[in-house]
Amino acid sequence: MKDKLKELREKIATAQLGGGQARIDKQHQQGKLTARERIHYLLDAGSFEEIGMFVTHRCTDFGMEKQQILGDGVVTGYGTIQGRPVYVFAQDFTVFGGSLSETHAEKICKVMDLAMRTGVPLIGLNDSGGARIQEGVKSLAGYADIFYRNVMASGVIPQISAIMGPCAGGAVYSPAITDFVIMVERTSYMFVTGPNVVKTVTNEDVSAEELGGAFAHASRSGVTHLTAANDIDCLEKIKQLLSYLPQNCEEAPPVVPCELGDELRPQLRQVVPPNPQQPYDMREVIDGIVDPESFFEIHPDWADNIVVGFARLAGRSIGVVGNQPTSLAGVLDVNSSRKAARFVRFCDCFNIPLLVLVDVPGFLPGTDQEWNGIIANGAKLLYAFSEATVPRVTLITRKAYGGAYDVMNSKHIGADFNFAWPTAEIAVMGAKGASEIIFRKEIAAADNPHELLAQKEKAYQKKFANPWRAAARGFIDEVIDPAQTRRKLIKAFVLLENKVVNLPKKKHGNIPL
Ligand code: HXC
Repeated sequence: MKDKLKELREKIATAQLGGGQARIDKQHQQGKLTARERIHYLLDAGSFEEIGMFVTHRCTDFGMEKQQILGDGVVTGYGTIQGRPVYVFAQDFTVFGGSLSETHAEKICKVMDLAMRTGVPLIGLNDSGGARIQEGVKSLAGYADIFYRNVMASGVIPQISAIMGPCAGGAVYSPAITDFVIMVERTSYMFVTGPNVVKTVTNEDVSAEELGGAFAHASRSGVTHLTAANDIDCLEKIKQLLSYLPQNCEEAPPVVPCELGDELRPQLRQVVPPNPQQPYDMREVIDGIVDPESFFEIHPDWADNIVVGFARLAGRSIGVVGNQPTSLAGVLDVNSSRKAARFVRFCDCFNIPLLVLVDVPGFLPGTDQEWNGIIANGAKLLYAFSEATVPRVTLITRKAYGGAYDVMNSKHIGADFNFAWPTAEIAVMGAKGASEIIFRKEIAAADNPHELLAQKEKAYQKKFANPWRAAARGFIDEVIDPAQTRRKLIKAFVLLENKVVNLPKKKHGNIPL
């Protein structure tokens, strides 16, 4: 036994576990950490247990049999973050450019299978030149094995992908299936086809950074949910994100201790400006409601006419979705609908209650929106809310017009509690548009059309631009003083804690993707 242990220690001590000092130095010069350093920063000190350290590739082509590096370009294993178990894989760019061989893929699949069997989140730290070119189709098969597991794990365990170097070709589809993507600025990129192919096919000149860097995917495509200034920042963001999430779909999210007082927030009375056309920042409403400093925004740089993110209310995780009046007056458009729909579905998968803050003047008009499918995309959000069985609470702060009123977690599509501030305007449309349509003939025949339109607008405003008609029908449960909002919402979510809804029996629905 003693001899065996000695042999093992010697083997580990002399093993080449990375691609050599020169390659490690190059990684550092580029501002990147190595795979093992990343795992070290990510996990609780001393908690990492490596799996598959002695795995080597099986390739015998192109002289590969003479190049064997233990671990084969990916470090896999498990550990804890804030005391909670996670499985992790970190691709090692210093070994064959982190490229994915048959055995490299097998190692990733092994931790994915373990994570699934044990109901533990999976974190992938991606830094790879893609398919191991020397291995051909075996490498492609390895990718597909991973994609398949990503899909099977979706909605069962949280899956988080950090992009910390290259991620190109079909390799992008594994992160894309996972729940959250975080890209490191300047050192990472993702694209299906790189700048050279783009130049050949479309004659466009574009750099890798412009085409698929963190900024491009955070603000244009929405592929990445978050960006990070560097590797450490990226790993910190993963930890922060996990702190809101349960370990799997069978569990409730973690609760942090929170002492409650009167929970009045008088500052919320001042947030909505007296002029209904004037914007205000919905983040002020969020910050006024949730536990201090607890709001963690997702997708902050994409489709900013809607705000989504995690927060805590009396120590419990909630998902927040809010129209954002500072951007496009908070309208729903293609991207904001997609952004919110995916977030709602994530929260519903993982038992995270939803708080929906509404100030929406409707859907964005125009050919661009219609031709890009505002119908199908708006329907995604409608579908996502309707299908969600987690506790769902809505607060209308100001406008809730037209179809967008229905879509934004209205009572009619299954919300549990619907509150409104006295400033709420729940109507088919704004007073001006409505008056122009219903009094068109009268106004056209008037001596002073402008004056008559103004009068009609005022009358319409008085009649409909308020929460009382909706409250009279029971579509709004209560019109509340903004100062009381936090208190009311804490109570509402406590009441809903044991909510059970069973959807009709079906294989799965057919969301308009
Ligand atoms: C084998 C690879 C590799 C790969 C890099 N290396 N990519 N080995 N298969 N895919 C090796 C290099 O030969 C080099 O080895 C080392 O990794 C570091 O690479 P460098 O080129 O020196 O690094 P850098 O200059 O930083 O450039 C990084 C890079 C470049 C842009 C990623 O390596 C590159 O273009 N690689 C090929 C990318 C690619 O075409 N992959 C296949 C895509 S198709 P030495 O020994 O010289 O240090 C694909 C399909 C997936 O992935 C389909 C899934 C369904």
